[in-house]
Amino acid sequence: MNLVAAEKVKKMSASIFQEVANRKLEAIKKGKDVIDLSVGSPDFSPPQFVIDTLIDYAGDPSKYGYTLTGIPEFNNAVGYFYQQRYGVELNSDTEVLQLMGSQDGLAHLATAIINPGDYVLVPNPGYPIYEASVNIAGGIIYPMPLLAENNFQPMLAEIPTEILEKTKMMIISYPGNPVTALADQAFFEKVVAFAKQHDILVVHDFAYSELIFDENPQLSFMSVPGAKEVGIEFNSLSKTFNMAGCRIGYVVGNEQAIDILSSFKSHIDYGIFYPIQMAAVKALTSDFSFLQTQVKEYEHRRDVLISGLEKSGWQVPKSPATMFVWARIPTGWKSRDFAFELIDQAGVAVIPGDVFGDLGEGYVRIAMVQPPERLSQAAKRIQDFLLEFALKNYLSK
Ligand SMILES: Cc1ncc(COP(=O)(O)O)c(C=O)c1O
Repeated sequence: MNLVAAEKVKKMSASIFQEVANRKLEAIKKGKDVIDLSVGSPDFSPPQFVIDTLIDYAGDPSKYGYTLTGIPEFNNAVGYFYQQRYGVELNSDTEVLQLMGSQDGLAHLATAIINPGDYVLVPNPGYPIYEASVNIAGGIIYPMPLLAENNFQPMLAEIPTEILEKTKMMIISYPGNPVTALADQAFFEKVVAFAKQHDILVVHDFAYSELIFDENPQLSFMSVPGAKEVGIEFNSLSKTFNMAGCRIGYVVGNEQAIDILSSFKSHIDYGIFYPIQMAAVKALTSDFSFLQTQVKEYEHRRDVLISGLEKSGWQVPKSPATMFVWARIPTGWKSRDFAFELIDQAGVAVIPGDVFGDLGEGYVRIAMVQPPERLSQAAKRIQDFLLEFALKNYLSK
């Protein structure tokens, strides 16, 4: 049999994460110590009370059936969390939908909403599932460049009217991955007005809502007047409570969009393990002191990494949020060559920026998923690597 992937799947690029992981393993086999700053999987643990709740419920044999959907306690807990953290009131019955991680919703939403030929506005650089999900749905991507000179915000006024007439959905994420920039109220208000004018569903990915540094405000898109009329917001317990492996997240906002996604999902999954749902309830209704401590730890990691890189002469702006640093690489390098050489020569694994779109070329994404000592060691290794490269360059002239 000669089996080939469907055209839609062929369009998806091979996972660079796998390639980086393979490269890392090869280096380790050769005896190299590799500091892995590639995948954004938190190395912190969930709060102990979350683990205890999971263990308690996992001991109950009656909790092993299909849950089918989010239990009411979960939807109410999301409502409570949104009210407490972002000042947003939600109807827990109609404006909250549980997901198997926000990735589940992001991956399926376009299929539930988009018809072949519909346009979707997608950030470039952007988190890879945005583009992949539109390809799966047979939609057409219209990239919105995120450039440093525009504060990494899309220039909405520059999108041609003939594209907007065929556009059904737009995806934004502040703070995002890999671009860690924050949005302000004025930008979100502009997006709401734009979406109303052109009848577009706004999808805001808020997966890093609790990793916002330097006392910057945590601005939920849902807190902007009119947002619920045009938009939804994805969020997750993966990064907020270090529950990435539990696969639990949610989407809130526009009732119609939530209803469509909910009925689509009813065909493809049968809900999340009850003990995980109850652990999530515990997390979302806790006193949030855990979140305050955690954000400070990430902020400290960021400072250690950025000042370490500065010592090597590599000036990288401080991320205002998230667990990532989005770093423009020194001139003369391509992202992939730089990332691969960094693993082979320096024993530091990062993700090449072009994975996130062609405008990510010239960048790498560094995940702060190691303790400060390891980040400082990584910065020192990068410093030696860059010095050696500069010396080789000089000698070859
Ligand atoms: C921007 C962004 N959105 C969504 C996700 C998906 O997270 P999860 O499915 O674990 O909620 C990630 C994961 O890294 C992410 O970086």
